[in-house]
Amino acid sequence: MLNKIIEIAKEAGEIVKDGFQSKFEIDYKSNSTDLVTEYDKKVEAVIINFIRKEFPSHSILAEESGQSEKSSDFRWVIDPIDGTTNFAHGLPIFSVSIGVQRNGKTIFGVVNDVMMGTIYSAELGNGSYSNNTKLKVSSNYELKKSLLVTGFPYDLENYLPNISEKFSEFLLKSRAVRRLGSAAIDFCYIAAGVFDGYWEMNLYPWDMCAGKLIVEEAGGLVTNFSGKDIDIFSKEILATNGRIHSQMREILTS
Ligand code: IPD
Ligand code: CA
Ligand code: CA
Repeated sequence: MLNKIIEIAKEAGEIVKDGFQSKFEIDYKSNSTDLVTEYDKKVEAVIINFIRKEFPSHSILAEESGQSEKSSDFRWVIDPIDGTTNFAHGLPIFSVSIGVQRNGKTIFGVVNDVMMGTIYSAELGNGSYSNNTKLKVSSNYELKKSLLVTGFPYDLENYLPNISEKFSEFLLKSRAVRRLGSAAIDFCYIAAGVFDGYWEMNLYPWDMCAGKLIVEEAGGLVTNFSGKDIDIFSKEILATNGRIHSQMREILTS
């Protein structure tokens, strides 16, 4: 099954890559910062058609078309383009993210980092890989020497000033903080040991389903800000190499 997920994530990535920097339609969702392009819809339809053909009994939860519940144990959780704002502006940081759950537990995760040509994948209990290389989180214990990443929700005004307070504090207490604009890639870079810690509030299931498993299978830890276990419907996430988790948790809960 993992090979099938990788196959469709690659096919989807090719379509997104072809559309990059072309002329396409852009619509607005909840507000003027929350975009959707014709490619988000096109790619999602291609992925869903593939599932309907290969695994017709499986349920689907997809960002642009919502939920299609069947009586199956399996559910696919899809973000056709994670990093739509980047894609729409011609910034080459975006991904296709596909997670598969069995009875509510994520068993496969695949993220196609389209412009880097990297496929991140994980199977529950079998480790995480970037293309064919096994991934391992960083071994850094010190927040002061950590490279962190975060993201901001589209309805940012509802979370201020808390978001800017935490952002300032991490800026002062870490080596540096980045904001890439694709949650799925943020998770994969934790798994690969590039980033040491990632926090964000108000994520959606499709932003985190694949990425969470990829971090965990690389030896990392993913919880809410208080350090509690989460499922994909929990909005806030703290993903780290495990070693700086409590230092980040303290800041996020203070
Ligand atoms: C967004 C990206 C971004 C994160 C936002 C997400 P989208 O997803 O993952 O990094 O900060 O919270 O909504 O809209 O590009 O699929
Ligand atoms: Ca997303
Ligand atoms: Ca998206």
